[in-house]
Amino acid sequence: MVVPGQQNQEEKVFYPPEDLRVDAHVPDFNSYLELYKKSIEEPEAFWREVAQEFYWKELPNGQLLQYNFDVTKEKVYVKFMEGAKTNICYNVLDHNVLTRNLGEKVAYHWEGNSPDLRLTITYSQLLKQVCRCANALKKLGVKKGDRVAIYLPMIPELVYSMLACARIGAVHSIVFAGFSSESLAERIMDAQCSILLTADGVYRGEKLINLKQIADEALEHCREKGLLTVQKCMVVKHHAFRINGNDTCNKLQTLWNAECDVWWDEAVDNASEECDPEWMDAEDPLFVLYTSGSTGKPKGVLHTIAGYLLYTSLTFKYVFDHHQDDVYWCTADIGWITGHSYITYGPLANGATSVLFEGIPVYPHVGRFWEIIEKYRVSKFYTAPTAIRLLMKYGIEPLQKYDLSSLRVLGTVGEPINPEAWMWYHDAVGQGRCPVVDTFWQTETGGHVLTPLPAATPLKPGSATLPFFGVLPIILNEHGEELEGEAEGYLVFKKPWPGIMRGVYGNQECFENTYFKKFPGFYVTGDGCRRDKDGYYWITGRIDDMLNVSGHLLSTAEVEAALTEHSAVAEAAVVSRPHIVKGECLYCFVTLKDFREFNHSLMDELKRKVREKIGPIATPDFIQNAPGLPKTRSGKIMRRVLRQIARNEKDLGDLSTLADPKVVEVLLSQRCEAAA
Ligand code: WTA
Repeated sequence: MVVPGQQNQEEKVFYPPEDLRVDAHVPDFNSYLELYKKSIEEPEAFWREVAQEFYWKELPNGQLLQYNFDVTKEKVYVKFMEGAKTNICYNVLDHNVLTRNLGEKVAYHWEGNSPDLRLTITYSQLLKQVCRCANALKKLGVKKGDRVAIYLPMIPELVYSMLACARIGAVHSIVFAGFSSESLAERIMDAQCSILLTADGVYRGEKLINLKQIADEALEHCREKGLLTVQKCMVVKHHAFRINGNDTCNKLQTLWNAECDVWWDEAVDNASEECDPEWMDAEDPLFVLYTSGSTGKPKGVLHTIAGYLLYTSLTFKYVFDHHQDDVYWCTADIGWITGHSYITYGPLANGATSVLFEGIPVYPHVGRFWEIIEKYRVSKFYTAPTAIRLLMKYGIEPLQKYDLSSLRVLGTVGEPINPEAWMWYHDAVGQGRCPVVDTFWQTETGGHVLTPLPAATPLKPGSATLPFFGVLPIILNEHGEELEGEAEGYLVFKKPWPGIMRGVYGNQECFENTYFKKFPGFYVTGDGCRRDKDGYYWITGRIDDMLNVSGHLLSTAEVEAALTEHSAVAEAAVVSRPHIVKGECLYCFVTLKDFREFNHSLMDELKRKVREKIGPIATPDFIQNAPGLPKTRSGKIMRRVLRQIARNEKDLGDLSTLADPKVVEVLLSQRCEAAA
């Protein structure tokens, strides 16, 4: 491989700043190439070395990585470090306190939605809180292997409880606290969780949300379906309501079910601050995290202990070039994979100091992010393109009020970043000094798979650049043939790395069908990708029926199912339309039943329906009345045509297979110009 940018002088390439290279873990491009080569040619030696950083109660027997990706041969599986015994909570807490002497180091600077809510938590304090919570969970009956549903806002208790589960060998299933009661119920039932953790309420900006009520409704849904497995619901009194004797029970009118509900304070505060870790097998489950499925039903992506620990730890160390004096801040919510891997496990495994932020970027003012960077002297900052585009709208004035000179590396994740947003991030936020690491990965990959390393990789705005150690990307054409050199097609992986998913919870068939069936022998990401002449990868977006709204994946089928639940709707088809801040947004076509009228109040009802079924992130931006949908003669909806209509593209492509071409004319004449 040549050094990128040398062949084409016109292409914009940004080289790593000299000062970063002085003490970087991977100080130049050649070091990256060497390490990468080793990771691919001698994976056993490579990962054995990484494993030495951690504590193993028992060592693995035999070969570290074992797998089968060929669905036509036998069952698809991945195993890493079989035979080894460890505990991930022990490794990210006790090991730091006892072996690395980091007990007094700050693990988290927590800042609430309101800037005056702050808490500093050291590694030894974190360990004690986690042990207390672990003991409380045990007392509530949680045992090794049980699933625990966690529906909490970004408060320290969220970190305590996930690590407490890991400590006692329970499997956490965290549900983003912006999901609706039905989405929560669906996830609780799928994993048959025995305990639910939630909070009384939370402020998001100025909006008060009654989480306990949503949690109660979720349990009610489970009961109605005859699938209520939750026996106890532990409720955290939110920090915002603890001050000034502010009683949330009154404010939120929290209903209390004495048989099931337990206050966190009462269960946890008096529990012992010592709790022996449960020694787990390397391949025991660590957590389930749901992600949208193309059939509309969310899939419980399963990750296991040892591989996930090593992979999140190593990616964090290299991708953010972590050093002990860094202050790192990832703005994601722990309810998503980015939070699991790069707020909790990866940073803690490295003994990092992080900012844990509950709020939103524009409350109480649009400079909130920059204020926090100045306040905590953040050096490594990780956010999403949608947040960058939102903040770009306010110009550079809010930035100029703050001292951002502590910043060293800027990261982005969640969707392709448009070069304009990349440049603003680089020039305005990073003042031209900080490399932008555009990290491509998925809930399923566990950690970064395509990413630059800040002191080693020349950057091209909009490209996730090159593979991380141990990752072998391949581009296939429609026929499953491997394409060499410059090419565009399906992004797949031929071999596993330690952090890849191990399955879909309780559903091997769905696991194989979704990821391994289309091209036997490969893990299929579902993303399109282009490789340029320098070997750089450019993600072109999803090529299945998924949408990426503000970095969150939604399936069109999921939204269509919500719309057709409304009594007025006969049929619905949902496509994506580009959106200046969210990246993509939902454009919905609905065919009404006879004699039903399409009007504003119906549109509001439909939006409410989607919010109730899925959550506010799925709220449609456009709803168009569709007296008929463009279908093939076999009855398949031609989404390609709908997508063009939604985007106001004049060229609708080949319409010869349409059963009734007139349908398209009607849709074109009625398309929505402005958001509903
Ligand atoms: C998209 C989030 C381009 C992609 C970690 C992927 C990206 C999906 C990038 C996974 C990026 C994520 N560039 N696209 N840097 N990062 N994506 O599971 O379509 O919530 O398949 O994981 O987001 O979303 P998920």
